[in-house]
Amino acid sequence: MPLNHSEKISTTKRIAVIPGDGIGPEVTREAVKVLKAATSGRGSPLEFTESDWGAERYLRDGTTLPAEAVAMLRREYDAILFGAVGDPRVPSNKHAADILLGLRAKLDLYVNLRPAQLLDAALTPLRDRGTKDVNFVVLRENTEGLYAGIGLGRVCMSDKSNVLTFGHDLWQRVFSQVKNEYSDIESRHLYIDTLVMEVVRDPGQFRVIVTCNLFGDILSDLAAQLAGGLGLAPSGNIHPGKISLFEPVHGSAPTIAGKNLANPAGAVLSSALMLDHLGLASQADAVRKAVRTAVREKHTTIDLGGTLGTREAGDWLAEYITKNPA
Ligand code: NAD
Ligand code: IPM
Ligand code: MN
Repeated sequence: MPLNHSEKISTTKRIAVIPGDGIGPEVTREAVKVLKAATSGRGSPLEFTESDWGAERYLRDGTTLPAEAVAMLRREYDAILFGAVGDPRVPSNKHAADILLGLRAKLDLYVNLRPAQLLDAALTPLRDRGTKDVNFVVLRENTEGLYAGIGLGRVCMSDKSNVLTFGHDLWQRVFSQVKNEYSDIESRHLYIDTLVMEVVRDPGQFRVIVTCNLFGDILSDLAAQLAGGLGLAPSGNIHPGKISLFEPVHGSAPTIAGKNLANPAGAVLSSALMLDHLGLASQADAVRKAVRTAVREKHTTIDLGGTLGTREAGDWLAEYITKNPA
């Protein structure tokens, strides 16, 4: 029986797609393809609207993030799927700062969730480490404020409060306060320089790492590499309960752009985080299972040892999900 109009409106999730620059559009296209496969024939279809914000538009008419963008996104959309920004023709990176940092700040997306999960032991550069050893999330403070309220088992907070005594003293004070409210959660503190060393020496000791914006940026690329490389790393820029933005950790990779070489898995796994955020958990799991299978069976792009192009890797994932739906 077809859905009547009002039912359709209440269940349709509206996704604003911002492909951006470089490999952004290539990987985002595959993520949308996979999302369509994961949600087709279900009660909660997604509706995609694409924007042209990025270097090309900026160079053409000077627009970065249009003035009405934030209000429009809040009013009309449930989530944002973002590719990447950055273009050698814009050395100031002005458009990227306005669009990406602008959206993070103006939508108050204060949590940057960056999971590092090794899907196949063959992919980590660490000797004798397997999928159980690399399985943690980096929670990066995303708007240069401070946040708290963690419910995730074992937490390590990292700062540089021994040197940045003013800025990072606040982290120390809030951490010890919040720690007392969650006595069931194992928590500890490491200075950032020690933390990065420990993450490489013995990553299995970490489940959740909470840190500031800059350290989280650097740490999440390191973590991505331990888990198989930037091509696989997803992220969510989240304000719990509100419109949030999902994007791969990688950038626009200009040197491989337009060559059908980029790995779409980071974008695809970011869309799984988006499905979770939208309350579509089983569809998110179906997407993650497809990526895990692809990685283990080498139906991947060349950065993960496969032979597929960006498009073909996306096709494989979409077909797998169609055959193995949620
Ligand atoms: P990058 O992440 O674009 O690339 C780093 C390295 O990883 C390159 O060797 C690249 O080829 C490789 N790589 C990245 N994504 C890949 C993928 N999906 N598949 C295969 N290989 C991949 O970082 P960069 O080179 O330092 O920056 C390039 C541009 O991207 C700059 O303008 C930078 O400011 C921007 N940037 C944007 C974001 C974002 O939009 N969130 C993030 C990081 C960098
Ligand atoms: C990221 C990027 C961005 C950041 C840049 C491009 C502004 O490195 O998303 O990790 O620093 O947050
Ligand atoms: Mn980064």
